[in-house]
Amino acid sequence: MKSLIIILLYIVIVDVSGKLYYHQDRIPSDVDVYNQSKVHVIQDSRHQTKYNGYEHLCPDAANIAPCVCTYDWWDNIMDINCSAVESEEQLKQIFKADFPFKNFKKFTFHNNTNMKVLEAGVFNNISFEIIDIKLNSLEVIELEALDSCYERATNIDLRRNRITSFPFDELSHFSKLLNFDISNNLLSSIPADAFNGLTTLETLQVIANGANIVGTFQDLPNLVTIGLTYNDLPTTIPANFINIGSPDLWYIAMNGNGIVSVEPGAFDIVDGLFIDIRDNSISTLDEATWRPYLEAEGWIQASLNPLICGCDIAWLFGEDQLLEHVGEYTTTCADGQYLHDLDPTIFDQC
Ligand SMILES: *[C@@H]1O[C@H](CO)[C@@H](O)[C@H](O)[C@H]1NC(C)=O
Ligand SMILES: *[C@@H]1O[C@H](CO)[C@@H](O)[C@H](O)[C@H]1NC(C)=O
Ligand SMILES: *[C@@H]1O[C@H](CO)[C@@H](O)[C@H](O)[C@H]1NC(C)=O
Ligand SMILES: *[C@@H]1O[C@H](CO)[C@@H](O)[C@H](O)[C@H]1NC(C)=O
Repeated sequence: MKSLIIILLYIVIVDVSGKLYYHQDRIPSDVDVYNQSKVHVIQDSRHQTKYNGYEHLCPDAANIAPCVCTYDWWDNIMDINCSAVESEEQLKQIFKADFPFKNFKKFTFHNNTNMKVLEAGVFNNISFEIIDIKLNSLEVIELEALDSCYERATNIDLRRNRITSFPFDELSHFSKLLNFDISNNLLSSIPADAFNGLTTLETLQVIANGANIVGTFQDLPNLVTIGLTYNDLPTTIPANFINIGSPDLWYIAMNGNGIVSVEPGAFDIVDGLFIDIRDNSISTLDEATWRPYLEAEGWIQASLNPLICGCDIAWLFGEDQLLEHVGEYTTTCADGQYLHDLDPTIFDQC
């Protein structure tokens, strides 16, 4: 029992001191200014030292109000929340204040109706890993508004603004970007090519803009999810529309786009790929197009389409039972019959 306590104590001490040394090591490398006289970085594993100077990592609160900077000593994370900013000009002034450390983890800007434009250079070399700019009234994101984050941003979340203008061509500068979400905005056009070559990108969401998606998606070797729901995709999805070379591609959402047909080879063939084509104007599930995905254990969701359900879909009722991979038992033919309830023998003469 005694030795167990000693072992536990040892684990706690090692863990705590590990954290402290981690902390001490990390500040100089993670931030661009290391001013020992300003920030009394933790020197030992004594618990009380953890408060030493930690508040000085943030700029003076009065200089950045109404933005609020918070520093989490334990994880060595500095965040800033500027949700209450009153104007473009005010935000610009705030980032001209003295920032002892310039690299934040997260920038939060939520529920703000005061700003329409995120202006070029507004962040004045202050950078963020997570850019969380949701639920505001922003209309324009100017070129180089986020330039300070090219080398650090992993997440850019711009959901639910009123964005009509975004500098898509600038995306190629974000060398660590994992997740990009500009869903629920008012873009009229989204250039697919702007994403090409984003080798780190894992999630791309451009849902519900009603936008023309111009071009094709190529060379996104780590992409897992692509959300194109409720836009204005081409009525015929061409071959190589999503030809990105990602072995991890798992989910393509294209529902609600007015799609009439999908050409063979429209998407990469990846095992287990889930393709959502609900709520379009597709009248037939062409074998040449869809068999390769279903044979690779993929799934298609096809409800809310005017499927004719003639000999064109007989292949789904063959011995390989591919119908099982047409998800949603509520999928109906144009006449209202459930696809999964059709009697397979009606296809015998096909
Ligand atoms: C470090 O901070 C102190 C106190 O704010 C200041 O007087 C000093 O000039 C700073 N040193 C550097 C190298 O920035
Ligand atoms: C950000 O600040 C606003 C008010 O300024 C507050 O309502 C909100 O809860 C804060 N959000 C976070 C994530 O801290
Ligand atoms: C934004 O405001 C709405 C309603 O005022 C509130 O329900 C929501 O929690 C707020 N969201 C954030 C992220 O602050
Ligand atoms: C931002 O940083 C770059 C490189 O470190 C420097 O050349 C530039 O002058 C800085 N800009 C501002 C506005 O501080």
